Amino acid sequence: IPVDIFDLAVFGATGDLAQRKLLPALFHRDLAGQIPPGARIIGVSRRAMTDAEFIAFAKAALEAHIPAEERKGGEVEAFLKRLSYVTLDATQDQGWDALAKALKPGEDRIRVFYLATSPDLFGPICDRLGKNKLVTPKSRVVIEKPLGKDLESARAVNDSIGKVFPESSVYRIDHYLGKETVQNLLALRFANALFEPIWNSAHVDHVQITVAETLGVEGRAGYYDTAGALRDMVQNHMLQLLCLVAIEPPTSIAADALRDEKLKVLKSLKPVVAHNGANNTVRGQYRAGASAGGAVPGYLDELGSPSSKTETFVALKAEIGNWRWNGVPFYLRTGKRLPDRLSEIVVTFRPIPYSVFDDSAGPIEANRLVIRLQPDEGVKLWLMIKDPGPGGMRLQHVPLDMSFAEAFSVRNPDAYERLILDVVRGNQTLFMRRDEVEAAWTWIDPILDAWAESTDLPKPYTAGTWGPAAAVALIERDGRTWHEDGTS
Ligand code: BG6
Repeated sequence: IPVDIFDLAVFGATGDLAQRKLLPALFHRDLAGQIPPGARIIGVSRRAMTDAEFIAFAKAALEAHIPAEERKGGEVEAFLKRLSYVTLDATQDQGWDALAKALKPGEDRIRVFYLATSPDLFGPICDRLGKNKLVTPKSRVVIEKPLGKDLESARAVNDSIGKVFPESSVYRIDHYLGKETVQNLLALRFANALFEPIWNSAHVDHVQITVAETLGVEGRAGYYDTAGALRDMVQNHMLQLLCLVAIEPPTSIAADALRDEKLKVLKSLKPVVAHNGANNTVRGQYRAGASAGGAVPGYLDELGSPSSKTETFVALKAEIGNWRWNGVPFYLRTGKRLPDRLSEIVVTFRPIPYSVFDDSAGPIEANRLVIRLQPDEGVKLWLMIKDPGPGGMRLQHVPLDMSFAEAFSVRNPDAYERLILDVVRGNQTLFMRRDEVEAAWTWIDPILDAWAESTDLPKPYTAGTWGPAAAVALIERDGRTWHEDGTS
């Protein structure tokens, strides 16, 4: 779908997100011919730089983050011509004229303000954009997580943005929604007749969502230590995945139709901590170990502080109190320094009601649908079949295997490529609405409070393992196991 001409002002243009994700994503879309001639990309940051210096900076970012075969000389040069730079300290009132000038007042273009900055700047930037009359009817603002650290602070951030931009112009990024396989979840559920009749508690035994990383906190320990895995991954990415698994069929995939359904799921989540008197959460913190082929230090050493209680791993059991899902646990787990980089959703169906085979056939395992988000994107449906050969009736559990890389020989675009263009197109379907974010915090806050009140420390786990033993116990006490830890 072609996009209209636009100006994109990236605040925080010299930061990590701009270098790793935004500039490469824009380059790839330019390469695909989706950035119209004349569209301008304006880097904005406090650092004093000329246009030429910013262009050199952007070129280095592209070289660092895009394989050489994907960036031929002429195309990079053509892309860099779109860039300019404004030095601006967003905490000050002065200097906004330069941005106004770069945006060429009087031109009726789509304007996107991308705030790739620390969240404390969201309010002040929006306020100054408003005061300097830079917000036109065709303007949009894009913000990144963390959107607050609890419900109260999220409301404050949303209020300060809402004073300047109407909700229909606010694009809250959850980059998981831009991932191809996450959107495929919608296709799988709502473009096939097969699954919907069995997508409920009568047929589904439980759901597992795993987002495992091998990375530690890298250079982000300062931020991460104030967040922890629950805020960093569960409040946003994992709850969004849970929502897409659990939503009722929306009437369309128009933004509000989908978001209304997600909101209903978030509001149906049962409080997790005190449920049935059991503690349904486990938090962990990695110790020194081995990951991605080498020895790695523990979290406290990386942080340089021996007393942090911040969790780098969470496992929890969530339950949805509604007609479709009551009684079906959703087990979530995520962590840093786990054995594999692996994100997947596993839907395990109920066992067969009765076996007609005798013991020599072997055990009959439940059907499983495994949606692999990364790496090796694809979908596998595990079924029982007869072992081939004349040796009697022996059964095997094997996957119907649909690997996207094998089925489609196309490059898998990064989530940001899709999301940035959706902002320009004015399509909010893959962005979080204010009430969704707040409903997610409403569910998360009591967990945070309970942890803060508890004298327990996060349970240690060795880097390169699947988290503390308590995470295994969490699911095993229900007579279930984590899905083969990513081996299938
Ligand atoms: C970010 C988190 O939102 O998602 C990071 O802040 C995490 O801590 C990242 O590493 C994971 O994203 P992806 O796309 O690599 O799975």
